[in-house]
Amino acid sequence: FPHTLVDPFQRQISYLRLSVTDRCDFRCVYCMAEDMQFVPKPQVLTLEELYRVAEAFTGLGVSKIRLTGGEPLIRNNIMSLVERLGRLPGLDELVLTTNGSRLAQLAPALRDAGVRRINISIDSLQPDRFREITRFGDLSAVIAGIDVAVAAGFERIKLNAVILRGRNDDEVLDLVAFAQERGIDIAFIEEMPLGQIDEHSRSLSFCSSAGLQQQIGERYPLLPLGDPTGSDGPARYFRIPGNAGRVGFISPHSNNFCHLCNRVRVTVEGRLLLCLGNEHSVDLREVLRAPGSTRDTLQHAIVAAMALKPEKHHFDHSGEPDILRFMNMTGG
Ligand code: GTP
Ligand code: 5AD
Ligand code: SF4
Repeated sequence: FPHTLVDPFQRQISYLRLSVTDRCDFRCVYCMAEDMQFVPKPQVLTLEELYRVAEAFTGLGVSKIRLTGGEPLIRNNIMSLVERLGRLPGLDELVLTTNGSRLAQLAPALRDAGVRRINISIDSLQPDRFREITRFGDLSAVIAGIDVAVAAGFERIKLNAVILRGRNDDEVLDLVAFAQERGIDIAFIEEMPLGQIDEHSRSLSFCSSAGLQQQIGERYPLLPLGDPTGSDGPARYFRIPGNAGRVGFISPHSNNFCHLCNRVRVTVEGRLLLCLGNEHSVDLREVLRAPGSTRDTLQHAIVAAMALKPEKHHFDHSGEPDILRFMNMTGG
């Protein structure tokens, strides 16, 4: 069988988003319901199984893996997996998306293990609001984590902020300034409708990137950057003259980037998801746990799954969830 991954739309798949846990020490209002049920342990891939998945994908030409969650850094013994992945041949870019709660302790070890870039979520710079949005988060711990990460010398650090009308839409300029002071990137994200969350109205809170871009543009000159076919994925980035950090917008609603998609996801249950906004999936756990399972059988299943990758997502922001699976089960 071919040792590369190409989907029916001739897109080369070179990037895996690997979720190492669906659990999180926060419960962000747009991500999880208040009474979230987590995956029972027997259904969770072991660290060894996660490594086998990563190895199978790199053998098929995947050169970038992003560890996601839930919150990846609360998985027990996560550093042992990170250290092994840091030595995995063919894996050029090992990167991580985190809520930052454990970064003050772990950032230097992640850097030493070969993690090249980190994305850190921060939606507010006001402690009370930060707590309301994350339900459990402690802003000072996250800021300490960001500062330790900046000092640890990663190739690039990006902040992620999901902007919600009436919650943090008046903090956009403060968030830009926070990132600029540290010389790091920031991306503003339009909320996506994953999972039924009764306590939170998506149609009322939706905030489009266009408005944010205008607001920032009135304060700072924004020079468009980069080639849209590069590895930046869904974000459109801008530069502010004289500043190192970039400002980006991830706008699944107003700017569909699916034609450039180069990624698939694997959930902590071992479900290979072909698209964030689509339910097509293949059960890799079954293949991993079948008697006589080898790297070959796993790779066969992955190659065959590519036929299921849809052309694009069809999100809208009418308020109804398009996808019943929650973001913490999806890996962002
Ligand atoms: P790179 O892919 O390395 O550029 O990072 P990223 O910015 O895509 O990753 P990150 O984990 O920081 O996610 C930021 C936001 O982008 C999250 O809200 C993700 O859900 C969203 N995102 C990531 N990939 C996709 C995608 O393929 N489609 C859509 N619609 N959103 C995505
Ligand atoms: N829509 C958009 N982004 C989301 N994230 C979590 N849930 C959603 C959602 N419903 C973001 C987090 C984190 C990234 C991995 O995904 O804020 O920065
Ligand atoms: Fe946790 Fe991230 Fe979901 Fe917030 S968005 S609850 S930090 S996984």
